[in-house]
Amino acid sequence: MTASASNTGDKPFNRLLLTGAAGGLGQVLREALQAHASIIRVSDISPMAPAAGEHEEVVTCDLADKAAVLALAKDVDAIVHLGGISTERAFEEILEANIRGTFHIYEAARKEGIKRVVFASSNHVTGFYPQNEEVDAHSPRRPDCYYGLSKSYGEDLATFYFHRYGIETVSLRIGSSFPEPRNVRMLSTWLSFADLGHLVERALLCKDVGHTVVYGMSANRDVWWNNRYAAHLGFNPQDSSERFRAQMEQQPKPAADDPSAHLQGGAFTQAGPFGD
Ligand SMILES: NC(=O)c1ccc[n+]([C@@H]2O[C@H](COP(=O)([O-])OP(=O)(O)OC[C@H]3O[C@@H](n4cnc5c(N)ncnc54)[C@H](O)[C@@H]3O)[C@@H](O)[C@H]2O)c1
Repeated sequence: MTASASNTGDKPFNRLLLTGAAGGLGQVLREALQAHASIIRVSDISPMAPAAGEHEEVVTCDLADKAAVLALAKDVDAIVHLGGISTERAFEEILEANIRGTFHIYEAARKEGIKRVVFASSNHVTGFYPQNEEVDAHSPRRPDCYYGLSKSYGEDLATFYFHRYGIETVSLRIGSSFPEPRNVRMLSTWLSFADLGHLVERALLCKDVGHTVVYGMSANRDVWWNNRYAAHLGFNPQDSSERFRAQMEQQPKPAADDPSAHLQGGAFTQAGPFGD
């Protein structure tokens, strides 16, 4: 178990840092992480709602601001890094929030002696694979947009900081984590909020992860990803998208040349370019 040497409470961590805490998944994890840390430092560039709970510290921080990120990580035992731009945007926006921002997180971990990071990567790191091809953590990456490229860089940072500084990371290549799937593609990629909470728990608590890459998906019927190289995490999803199948299949079918119908990254493979 990765725990703070200074932690004397009955929870594995004294203080966890959660970036992107005002976002969709951040709000889910604020709740789910309570069981694992005495204090959660919740941070975002956007206002936090609801406001700080009893065991939370709210810190507003732009991930692009290196000095602010270094201060943000002070006295933290582990980091769950969700913050950043979560869809395709102009490269300059992605550069600041995701590329510089994730570099700042790892520099802060190095300087503060933090040994565990859970990084919200994305399935868009391998979005240019066809839907009929199985992909695993060792498959060559095929990022499908600037956003996917930034997540691929985040995974490279994780590998580098492990080999050079012994900072361990679990990179979560999250599929589609929403209350319910929204279309037929998400029948394959859906990750329920309950399974997300379980996955982040395993990513924080599992020993000796080095840099482990895991696809974040529920126990869906038709999946494109194989988590064989992340078996040691003990991630055992309980939900399935199957109960939404009839409803999703009533939606109009995408045209044959629509990437949603044949590429794993779906619409992200054609989004943009923004900023021209
Ligand atoms: N929800 C999904 O299905 C999904 C799928 C794949 C990957 N992910 C990744 O998981 C993470 C969380 O996803 P989400 O759905 O909650 O996204 P979200 O957009 O709702 O939340 C991201 C948060 O990051 C914050 N942020 C953006 N730029 C920032 C900056 N410069 N400094 C500080 N904070 C900044 C935003 O204000 C936002 O609250 C993201 O990194 C996303 O790329 C999510």
